[in-house]
Order: sequence, then C-alpha cells, then structure tokens
Amino acid sequence: MSNYHIKHLEEYFQVYRKSVRNPESFWEEIAEEHFVWRKRWNKVLEWDFKKPEIKWFEGAQLNITENCIDRHLSTRSHKTAILFEPNNPKEKSQKITYFQLYERVNQFANVLREQGIQKGDRVCIYLPMIPELAVSLLACARIGAVHSVVFAGFSATALSIRINDSDSKMVITSDGSFRGEKTTDLKGIVDDALEKSPCVKSVLVVKRTNSNIFMKEGRDLWIQPLLDKASKICQMEIMDAEDPLFILYTSGSTGMPKGMLHTIAGYMVYTAYTFKNVFQYREDDVFWCTADIGWITGHSYIVYGPLANGATTVMFEGIPSYPDFGRFWEIIEKHKITQFYTAPTAIRALAKENLEYVEKYDLSSIKVLGTVGEPINEEAWHWYNNNVGKKHSPIVDTWWQTETGGILISPIPFATPTKPTYATLPLPGIQPVIMDKNGKEITENQVDGRLCIKFPWPAIARTIWGNHERYRETYFSTYKKKYFTGDGALRDEVGYYRITGRVDDVIIVSGHNLGTAPIEDAINQHPAVAESAIVGFPHDIKGNALYGFVILKETGESRVHENVRIEINQIIAEHIGPIAKLDKIQFTSGLPKTRSGKIMRRILRKIANNDFNNLGDTTTLLNPEVVQEIIDNAL
Ligand code: WTA
Repeated sequence: MSNYHIKHLEEYFQVYRKSVRNPESFWEEIAEEHFVWRKRWNKVLEWDFKKPEIKWFEGAQLNITENCIDRHLSTRSHKTAILFEPNNPKEKSQKITYFQLYERVNQFANVLREQGIQKGDRVCIYLPMIPELAVSLLACARIGAVHSVVFAGFSATALSIRINDSDSKMVITSDGSFRGEKTTDLKGIVDDALEKSPCVKSVLVVKRTNSNIFMKEGRDLWIQPLLDKASKICQMEIMDAEDPLFILYTSGSTGMPKGMLHTIAGYMVYTAYTFKNVFQYREDDVFWCTADIGWITGHSYIVYGPLANGATTVMFEGIPSYPDFGRFWEIIEKHKITQFYTAPTAIRALAKENLEYVEKYDLSSIKVLGTVGEPINEEAWHWYNNNVGKKHSPIVDTWWQTETGGILISPIPFATPTKPTYATLPLPGIQPVIMDKNGKEITENQVDGRLCIKFPWPAIARTIWGNHERYRETYFSTYKKKYFTGDGALRDEVGYYRITGRVDDVIIVSGHNLGTAPIEDAINQHPAVAESAIVGFPHDIKGNALYGFVILKETGESRVHENVRIEINQIIAEHIGPIAKLDKIQFTSGLPKTRSGKIMRRILRKIANNDFNNLGDTTTLLNPEVVQEIIDNAL
C-alpha cells in the first residue's frame, strides 16, 4: 500500500486511519520518500494550538526549487513544465521545459541578488498571468526571499497597504496586462502605490504590452536586459524547513488584510501530496487550473504542487469570455487537458451561454474536473458534470482556504463517490469537527455548525505577518485547541461534509473573499456619507453580490443620490478594486443597532435576501422603527 498515491476507497480509509492514529510517522514517510532534503529533520511535528505554534520537520534543510525543478532535470529535462496560453488566441502558446525553467529561474534569481535582494527580504509581485509571474516566485524561493504576490486586479491603495504591511523592498511588475479586450496600465498603478510606500527601493518591469510607460530614474529597471546578462546558474540558498516561503493577503472581518505566512517544508510536502491525490495526477497529464497566481489556488496548484510532482501546468493569461464563451473549451481541446480546475462562478457564467460553445470542442482528454473557492450549487454541478465531464469525469469539490495552504476536504477521484454540493471526505491527516455556538461538538448528522480542525497539517499558515496576536485571536480563540475556519458546515449520514458558507463578515463574490469592513471604510470616506453597512445577497453568477445600506449626511434630491451612487463605487474601485463594487445601494435614514451601538447585520442580511418575515426579535434594538423604513425601501 502506498501512502503517497491513493487509488481506491478502501485504500483511502486505510490511509486515513493511519494518518490519524499516527500523523507523525504518516507525514514522515511521505516526506522521506518523495522529496530532496539537504539535511534531515530532528522532529516531525511540534505544536500547540493555544500559543499558537506549529512546526513541521524542524531542523531539516532544503530548497523548494530544487524539489520543483533541479531534481526533475535527470528525467524530465525536455518535458514541458509550464504551458503558457496567451490572452489572444492568435498569439502562439509557449512551452517552457523543465530545463528552460531551470535556466530562467536561475537568471531571474541572479538578477534579484544583483539588485540587492537577500535571504529573508520581502519582494512584492504585481504581475499578470505571464510566465514571469511563476518564474519570479521560484526565483525568490531560490535565494530565500519571501514573495508577496498581490493580485493584479487590486487598486493602487490596496497594493500600497500590502507593500507597507510586508515591508517589501522591491516590486516586480509589467508595463501592462491583457485581459480580454482590455489593457491595464499596471506600472501606472504601481507608480501611484509607491507614492505611499517608501520602503520600496527598486521596481523591476517586465515588458508585455509595449505600452509607453514612465520609468523613474534610479528606481525602475526593465528586467529583460538584466536577464540577458545574468548567469544561467544560480547557487540556491539552503533554507530551514520553517523559514518563510511567502506571504499572501486574505480579507478579514476587520480592516486590514491578513498577511498569511506560509513556511517552506510543510507547504511543499502538503501541496505536492494533495495535488497528486486530489487530481490523480499521472506522468503524461496536462493539468490546468484557471485561477490567478495572485490567489492561493494559483500558488499551490499552478506553481508549487504541480512542479513538485514534475507535472505540466498550464498558465492562462486571459478570461473565459474572450474572444468568445468557448475559450476554455477551445484550450482544453488544443492542449489535451486532462485535469481542469476552476471556480463555480466561472461555471455558472458559462452555463448561461449557448451550449454550442461547449459542444463545438473535443473534451475527451478530460479525466478529472475540479471546483474551488465557494460552494457549488446543484444546478452548476450538473451542468459541469453533463456537458464538460460528459458524466464520466468525477468532479472534485475541493474545500480549503488561503490559511490552509492546500486542499483539506475533497473527494479522491475514482475512489470517493461524489455527491453534488458536498466536498465529501477529509484528506489524510485532516481531522475536522463541527462545533455549535456554545463550544460543543456537534455529533448529529445534518446539523449546521461551525467547521474547525483539531489537529495540524503540514501546510497550515504559521502566523499573520507582523501580528501573531491577530492570528491567535482569529483562528484559535473561538474554540479551545481548535483551528476555526470561519465557515459553516454539516455532515451527512455517511460522514460527507457540506460547506454551507461563511459565518463571519467575509463575503465571497465571484470566488473572491471580501471583508465588509474595508469596503465600509472606503464608502465612509465619501464626503456625503455618514455611515454604511454592507451585506451579501444571492446572485446567479457571482454566487453573492454586495448590498450597501448607506446613511447620507444630508438627504437631497434623487439626482444627487444617483451621483453619490456612482461615486461610492468609484471610491470602492480606488481603495480596493473593481471586484468589490456594490450591486445595490439603498439610502436610509438609519441602521438597525443594538443598545451597545453594534449594527445588527443579521437583519440587514435578511432584508437584502428579501426575507422580510423572519427578522427575529427587533424589540431590543435601539431604533426598531428604522427596520420598517428599510423594508419599505428595499431594492
Ligand atoms: C470558501 C480559496 C465551499 C470558504 C482556496 C473558504 C469553499 C474560503 C470551497 C476560502 C468549496 C473555498 N466549497 N466553500 N469547495 N472552497 N470555499 O482563502 O468559505 O480564497 O473559507 O481560498 O472560500 O477562500 P480563499
């Protein structure tokens, strides 16, 4: 029996039992047999969820790029590592072999070193989905620098906040990005961000759009001439298992985004292991995850997990609707994709279009389909299963988080029978529990509670960068000795888990996590706004959309209201990014508040959901009369 590659259900149960009975020997065996270490660990696991402190493979030394690149050179040197598919189908796709990747990463790493980047320094990466994005992550890892990728859809303000929080010395960006018919001036956004980010000493710029951009003397450099001169050999930094690999920001319930810190060895072992099993990856497969590397899904399942397995991983620069709604299916046919991993929001958007877009293409190469990022509704699941998987490719509904580093709950294809809307069973090493509000474990079936994990796994984030107390408070204080996910969940009769959605103030819009607090903060900066509250409401394609209740300082004519509506969304786009714009804005004279002054979001959520009958007890409110006004004007 192999611990590393599970092939049928009985084997899953055996491996799972072993992973729970003796987690340390379970992970030790995997770490030993499937990775290259420069020095062995002294101890497999040290943990204390109270502090909290978690250490895996302490004392071990390694470099993750040796595991993702160098070690494949003897057997897979000519194999494609990264297959780049550009935004415009008329532009040629690029196949980067493992050997070419080795040389490109080394050159890039040498340039970083020449520019003064040292082990432990933070480098902010703000790039579109072009090969240099993956290469820059690996180049940082090669020399022990900590990458902090910021999704290239974030605004200058959001970028600046992340640069300052991580204290990044350098930004890597491009002259622009292509997405569909749109060209975005990324360098201009970086220039704006840097006005408020004095910690950045240099900016390296990749040429992509050939736009005419401003280059600041003494700060900005085109990277290509530097790469051309750089050596193709780069001595890797030998790193400790628990050294930081990257920071990645995720939204929280309160103001500042949380810089989740992942460390090297545990993250590597876990992403590689889950990639192999959840996608049943085989040597000649061509794996495509449509996420952006700006999110955790791209970090773990475009870059590190696939490359650690010596896989071919696809990077797509564009969007599903350009030049038409057949683009995804065309790419699957063109590159004979074997595993296709995407978000429910994309499936819902494509399911709305004419079926001919799908039927036009040969999708017979597909073996496994996956989804991630939000609950998948039954209708979308069936559409995906019938029209893309043709009813014979299992769908893996993978539940996980930026904080978890890798997939925690998911079917193992061809082993676990799937069930629509259920993420099914915990992967080996994962010990979920469902808790009620009072801190008691729920053991009954079909009772909705809060999802926690009671034992560490190798890829759990180790801290929030610069704020360990917030890490403790957010994840380890709600339930004693348990990691609290922030998600609701229930279990069915056979032990399958169904994720029912966020139970905190994070709203998932089109698969993107958005905290309500930063959006409210942005809106409140509008001079006419006194106060605001944001809640989510169901949306056909986005899953959730945002509904804003806004109190104006002075009520005016409706024409003025229209202008304020537009300006509110402009402010949100400037402070966070267009993804956080509101779908509905209702002006109101007040917001329902408790006697201690807290906004009762529960009531607003119900109103936004058109559920006016079960508002619960409103008599304890400070201002119960406002509820009727809000109902009367609900949009
Ligand atoms: C949600 C993305 C239901 C969940 C990898 C989680 C899901 C948040 C699923 C994390 C799924 C992710 N079913 N909900 N299969 N996958 N989620 O950090 O609410 O961007 O807490 O990580 O997405 O989002 P994040």
